[in-house]
Amino acid sequence: MPSLASMKLSALKQKTRFLSDNIVFNFGGALAISGLVCVVCVFFLNSFNYPSSTFFSSLYPKRTSSDPYPNPSRTDSPTNVSHLVFGLVTAVATWKPRKPYIDAWWQPNVTRGYIIIDKPLSEEFLPWPSTSPPYRVSDDTSKLERESRHVAPIMVRMVHAILETFREGDKGVRWYVMGFDDSVFFVDNWVDALAKYDHTKYYYIGDYSECVLSNLFFSFDQGFGGGGIALSYPLAAAMVKDLKGCIRRYPFVRSADTIIQFCVDEFGVPLTVEKGIHQIDLLGDISGYLSALPQSPLLSLHHLDFVDPIFPSMDRFQSTNHLMKAAKFDQSRLLQQTICYLRPQNWSFSVSWGYSVHIYETIHPRSMLKRPLETFRPWVKNAKPPKFMFNTRWPCETPRVFFFESVGKTVGNQIVTTYVRSASPVYPNCEWKGNNSTDNIKKIQVITSATKRKEIERSECGDIVHVSGSNIAEIKLRDCKDDEIIA
Ligand SMILES: *[C@@H]1O[C@H](CO)[C@@H](O)[C@H](O)[C@H]1NC(C)=O
Ligand SMILES: *[C@@H]1O[C@H](CO)[C@@H](O)[C@H](O)[C@H]1NC(C)=O
Ligand SMILES: *[C@@H]1O[C@H](CO)[C@@H](O)[C@H](O)[C@H]1NC(C)=O
Ligand SMILES: *[C@@H]1O[C@H](CO)[C@@H](O)[C@H](O)[C@H]1NC(C)=O
Ligand SMILES: *[C@@H]1O[C@H](CO)[C@@H](O)[C@H](O)[C@H]1NC(C)=O
Repeated sequence: MPSLASMKLSALKQKTRFLSDNIVFNFGGALAISGLVCVVCVFFLNSFNYPSSTFFSSLYPKRTSSDPYPNPSRTDSPTNVSHLVFGLVTAVATWKPRKPYIDAWWQPNVTRGYIIIDKPLSEEFLPWPSTSPPYRVSDDTSKLERESRHVAPIMVRMVHAILETFREGDKGVRWYVMGFDDSVFFVDNWVDALAKYDHTKYYYIGDYSECVLSNLFFSFDQGFGGGGIALSYPLAAAMVKDLKGCIRRYPFVRSADTIIQFCVDEFGVPLTVEKGIHQIDLLGDISGYLSALPQSPLLSLHHLDFVDPIFPSMDRFQSTNHLMKAAKFDQSRLLQQTICYLRPQNWSFSVSWGYSVHIYETIHPRSMLKRPLETFRPWVKNAKPPKFMFNTRWPCETPRVFFFESVGKTVGNQIVTTYVRSASPVYPNCEWKGNNSTDNIKKIQVITSATKRKEIERSECGDIVHVSGSNIAEIKLRDCKDDEIIA
């Protein structure tokens, strides 16, 4: 990894600038961290300086006319997991600590794809486990880095990984999904999400960063790579024909994600946003965010080793595997928020399926509960508002918080998830107390149908079956009725 000092304000003599010079920000501690994950953080610094001379004089290599990779044809067969190929970029330095994140979601002999690692592996990594994706060593891109005088040479390898993944020549591919060693993917949901699009057309699918500044400094038109981007087969095939040429055209761009977007843009293809992709450019306790995610099937979580463990009683890997227990039963509802009320007691419930239940001892409108409690911090230290791409709520509006404990089937073949009360509130001095205390409730059970949700154009509704005197509140989730108002 190049040192930070060498990246900072490097040898550029920029003439044109994307950003005004007076935007000042401080990265603080995050800068100290090395590894691929820093793709996002490190390259904030001075990331958009366009040396106009380089820009306009770049060479445009000839495109080849024969197409070695014929496009797939539109068929009526539904998209399934075998139509996706994952390209996961890692480095020898980060593989060991990050491997558990991949293992949490990778299904050997079911998911297809490759780990693309920066250097040949020493014996300590061999034999390579068959439970991990097969690995490929990155091409030596040093010549391209030198020739293009790329300001962030490490980015060249990462963009080039698209070509290396494509080159494997897997059969029947409809989508290439690119990510990193710390991208946690929910593959069933990816299959359903991608099945909505015509894979014979050019599609570039991703999502923004949660942080306004990340999008500002990189691009509001790019998919952030840690959350994952999907390229339809024809788009990937078109890109790899002259990927090197594209890399040469943008030697002044310091982020692989941005270079990829610029390459896609050259085909006239915009970003298609899937709101379930989560870059997680956040720090600290992200439970507030995960308890009120945008209404869209969960596709990915990234940066889990930068945030607090998502379940406070567990470490990071345990937390990831714990979430996967719920994912194994139903990915379609995972982290989907359902809001319901117990009017006689004046209680509001907010369920984030498979993750948390919040109870408020008062009635808050749904529109308010959909806003995440701001328990987290933005990636960029000392960022001023607007910090996030979404509205948040003051975390002092403290609910009683319950975290996912277990999942199972009921005798009636329904799925029951259980949530237990979290020890102490994060902000103990500002708990909002209503007239009717929820203190007796120690456990919450959420019952759902075992049928996965196909459409999420509308949230589910819930009925609260609270057995008086018992310590368990039971919530049944169901389709909302016609005209049903959640209030
Ligand atoms: C996926 O669909 C293809 C047809 O396009 C079929 O041949 C294959 O068996 C299916 N795979 C799975 C895992 O369902
Ligand atoms: C995957 O399939 C191969 C060949 O079919 C088999 O040898 C191997 O044990 C399988 N791996 C796992 C982890 O199931
Ligand atoms: C608490 O809720 C019950 C209904 O379950 C209601 O009868 C009672 O008045 C409430 N108590 C207060 C103090 O509001
Ligand atoms: C609690 O109940 C009293 C009446 O018993 C009422 O005056 C008060 O507004 C209630 N407070 C809340 C927060 O519901
Ligand atoms: C419910 O809340 C409203 C408004 O805060 C209050 O007027 C009412 O008394 C509360 N009822 C109960 C049963 O606590």
